[in-house]
Amino acid sequence: MNKIFNAYQFVGDYSKFFDRMMTNADLPERLALKFLWGLDEAAYKKFLEQAFAGIPKSFNGRLLEIPVGTGVLSLPVYKNLNGAEIYCVDYSDKMLDAAKSRAEQMNLRGVKFIQGDVGNLPFADNFFDLVLSINGFHVFADKIAAWSETQRVLKDDGIFCGCMYVKGENTRTDFFIKKFCEPNGFFSPPYETLKSLQDFLSKKYSRAEVSHVKSFAGFVCRK
Ligand SMILES: C[S@@+](CC[C@H](N)C(=O)[O-])C[C@H]1O[C@@H](n2cnc3c(N)ncnc32)[C@H](O)[C@@H]1O
Repeated sequence: MNKIFNAYQFVGDYSKFFDRMMTNADLPERLALKFLWGLDEAAYKKFLEQAFAGIPKSFNGRLLEIPVGTGVLSLPVYKNLNGAEIYCVDYSDKMLDAAKSRAEQMNLRGVKFIQGDVGNLPFADNFFDLVLSINGFHVFADKIAAWSETQRVLKDDGIFCGCMYVKGENTRTDFFIKKFCEPNGFFSPPYETLKSLQDFLSKKYSRAEVSHVKSFAGFVCRK
């Protein structure tokens, strides 16, 4: 857990690089995303669409995002959710600081930022209408606690959605994760496959739809 925390504190210090990678900003990032993750521009667009596919248009309930990271992907989406009550949680204060500055720059008011552990969320049972997790479950050290807590804080019939890495879809990506992301604390095993994720979510939720683009699975579930 400390290794992961330290890794993302480091990323928080260099958040501009992380943001450029996550947004497929320019030629170097595009080449890296294509080479390492197999995502060309069309696939990257699909990756983004599936990450946010579970948020209903004009959603105006209570939303938890865990982990928000620097908010580079999600805060632009929140700009269009005026009626929603949004809580963004992350373990790393440096990643959260970057997200807070982004929210200020975007003049995004009313979004709450909280430092916390997905395995011990500081919210009551059934508190949220929607829980969003983008690129979190391949990072969290205690996945059992993370699955359990994200479900606990969600209301009955609430939506659990987002995206995560799944193994077995791209040999080069799997190799890169094993040799670079994991030893440096950016990813943490064990990882789901598309099938194990579909099976697991179908048991845990009343409805579960899983899609994928290359090594990223998108999921939309109903509690
Ligand atoms: C790959 S980043 C994803 C951030 C963001 N969702 C995105 O896609 O840009 C993973 C994030 O998970 C956070 N994290 C790792 N372990 C955590 C935990 N136990 N509880 C909460 N956040 C955690 C890290 O601090 C980091 O910001």
